[in-house]
Amino acid sequence: MGDHFALTENGITPPLRWEEPPEGPVLVLLDQTRLPQEEVELVCTDVQALVAAIRSLAVRGAPLLGLAGAYGIALAAARGYDVEDAAELLAHARPTAVNLEYGVRRAVEAYRNAAPEQAPAAALAEARQLHAQDAAASAAMAEHGERLLSELVTGGGYRILTHCNTGALVSGGNGTALGVVLATHRSGQLRRLWVDETRPMLQGARITAYEAARAGMPYTLLTDSAAGSLFTAGEVDAVLVGADRIAADGSTANKVGSYSLAVLAAYHHVPFIVVAPTTSVDLATPDGSAIEVEHRPANEVTDLAPSPLGTQAYNPAFDVTPPELITAIVTENGVVAPVTAERLAAVCG
Ligand code: MRU
Repeated sequence: MGDHFALTENGITPPLRWEEPPEGPVLVLLDQTRLPQEEVELVCTDVQALVAAIRSLAVRGAPLLGLAGAYGIALAAARGYDVEDAAELLAHARPTAVNLEYGVRRAVEAYRNAAPEQAPAAALAEARQLHAQDAAASAAMAEHGERLLSELVTGGGYRILTHCNTGALVSGGNGTALGVVLATHRSGQLRRLWVDETRPMLQGARITAYEAARAGMPYTLLTDSAAGSLFTAGEVDAVLVGADRIAADGSTANKVGSYSLAVLAAYHHVPFIVVAPTTSVDLATPDGSAIEVEHRPANEVTDLAPSPLGTQAYNPAFDVTPPELITAIVTENGVVAPVTAERLAAVCG
């Protein structure tokens, strides 16, 4: 079907594209569950298929979920499905990343505000606009993030520890935390990228390592539990992570394991930096206790760690880092540091 994915300038296959073959519009996803072994396309012709792709993590990562939500509404509209039903299904496909509801809401509002015959085109135009805005936000965050690192880290070159995957595969551009890392690599400042494998779904090992290899970065993979010894060895200059939802007080939900890194970073006096677009900020959620953390099936853990039949598993997909452990939040509109509710609200305009 259609064209193959055209590589971006980084050599990364774009994670999502809209196509209009004669049989009707489709949303084509790069199936991230199959990376890095194979690049397989998943062609969604309806909202149910897209919801399944979101739940299985074929399409994942906060900014990309926002784009998937917006294009999902465009798909429903173009295919003649009930847009309000589609919005309900899509917005709740996963609970933690606020970008998903945001993307859905933007496309639904564009649809509702247009004349009926223009409404499907309006929803698609809004999805495309969000896509372009996300690419621009990536570029701005890379600039702000690189400048911040130059202020916080002295000694020539950066050794950066990251968790999960936050690059071109979760964004319309080069991503959030990994977008900043890429910028430092391109300017010759990256000494080493430490990549947490990110259990249990291994987004670090499978996807961040894949992006780092494609970009030619000097990177090393480690088990999540090896991070402490890396800090003890003095091998980390900064921790950079993304965000799924940032509450009004700056509490940040991100991939489970981020909080442990923040505690380690504070103990070792290493900056812990969150890089996220303002579309990941939810000022309506007052603090971390109000963020819904997704719990995923036990078999994601037991499949990875062979254990006796019937073993129960605790498998939250995210954890919440309180603002006092976050050195700075880098957004496309500037840097929030120290992290306070007032400064966060100001950067969100
Ligand atoms: O479960 P995932 O893979 O969707 O989780 C993704 C993360 O936790 C990312 O760190 C976050 O969405 C930021 S992506 C720029």
